[in-house]
Amino acid sequence: MTTPSAPREQWGSKLGFILAAAGSAIGLGNIWKFPYVVGENGGSAFIIIYLLCTAIIGLPVLVGEILIGRTTQRNPVGAFRALSGSRFWAGVGGMGVAAGFLILSFYAVIAGWSVGYIYESFSGDLFKYADPTKAAVHFEELTHDVVWIIGYFGFFMILTMGLVYAGVQKGIERGSKIMMPVLFLLLIFVMIRGITMEGSGAGLEFLLKPDWSHVSGQTFLIALGQAFFTLSMGMGAMLTYGSYMSKKDSVPSSALQILLLDTAIALVAGIAIFTSVFATGLDAAAGPGLIFHTLPVVFMKMPGGEIFGPIFFILLSIAALTSAISLLEVITAYFVDEKGWTRHRAVIVFGSVTFLIGIPSALSFNVLSDTTIFGLNFFGLVDYLTANIMLPLGGLLIAVFIAYVWKFDKALIELKNGAERLFNKNPLLITLWQIFIKFFAPVLIFLVLLHSTGILDVLGL
Ligand code: PHE
Repeated sequence: MTTPSAPREQWGSKLGFILAAAGSAIGLGNIWKFPYVVGENGGSAFIIIYLLCTAIIGLPVLVGEILIGRTTQRNPVGAFRALSGSRFWAGVGGMGVAAGFLILSFYAVIAGWSVGYIYESFSGDLFKYADPTKAAVHFEELTHDVVWIIGYFGFFMILTMGLVYAGVQKGIERGSKIMMPVLFLLLIFVMIRGITMEGSGAGLEFLLKPDWSHVSGQTFLIALGQAFFTLSMGMGAMLTYGSYMSKKDSVPSSALQILLLDTAIALVAGIAIFTSVFATGLDAAAGPGLIFHTLPVVFMKMPGGEIFGPIFFILLSIAALTSAISLLEVITAYFVDEKGWTRHRAVIVFGSVTFLIGIPSALSFNVLSDTTIFGLNFFGLVDYLTANIMLPLGGLLIAVFIAYVWKFDKALIELKNGAERLFNKNPLLITLWQIFIKFFAPVLIFLVLLHSTGILDVLGL
């Protein structure tokens, strides 16, 4: 796949696409980020808004994003250009590539923590800190150590680069097929342990009884951002994976399966963490360290925890890896397709660049922890800018592009490939997709983005 005329690699099967795309979607977003943003934003009211964002905006836009990729068989920039011939829209693809760099740069820092915790749990250190407060203190100590944090961050980047270097099918598809189901099973174990702990009821209540008093314009933006982030949407990762998909496979049913798997994992992770957080008296709003404060305690209290602990962190690191490779793949596909670079050169150069961009994020937990911009540290700022602004904006533009630039009817012809049976049986789905892509998705994203700027409050709306 070095030149546009060479036959492009494709997934080995439909299952290959679904597993790889689910591998991209399922990652730290579900297991590390979801619980902590839920904790910071008041529990179940936030979850309800997040689920609505996923269903009303996430699904139709996800279908659209995969479709653009499958139709053009290109990277984000080339795909938008091919369908519109316009430089503006190629630039929208370019924004996705930029978001890929930024997201990977902080994502790999957190993934490094997960890798570091594999060692912690194998060496038994983790269990010395099984007391909730001690676990939190130990986490602070580790992340304050510049060598620890940058070392594991760098190590994780090398792993990611290695897999993308190996190429699409060999590197990405094979790994995802085996590990994801095991991770899911293990999370279910942790969830059962959480639910059966004494005092877990308060956690369930936190997850089930909505408290709307915490909800503001920001809550909507963060929930929308979380929906995009966890589905790997709005920056071209799903578009790029879709570009390796066969026209014989159904885009809508693949998108739905990815979304259901992704949401199920987030919810199971949420239950596992909050039952444990409340049972052990930890702080639900502890922020990015939340799962690292909580899980050591849960594993300690679990029969076989010494074995499940390390396995859990191994699988979490692998889940992070299958997401990270989709981020680096977007950047790589762009330079290979558009600039004629070899895959190997693109991976080495841009993997290294991403590492450099990520250093201030890694330092945000120690040396730079007091340096804030708009009240956020560097890590928080890059996370906020990408997840809550760039991805939803990307999603808004994808919807507008399909509806008004590519034109809905042309998109529909492509969408029908592989989904003939689905649409013959349920013709209503076409109308629904049309309404959501032309109207609901763009208008709602626009309103949420606008609301978060405070402009609506100023206008008294
Ligand atoms: N969806 C991934 C996760 O939840 C993160 C990601 C975001 C991956 C955007 C690719 C693109 O961990």
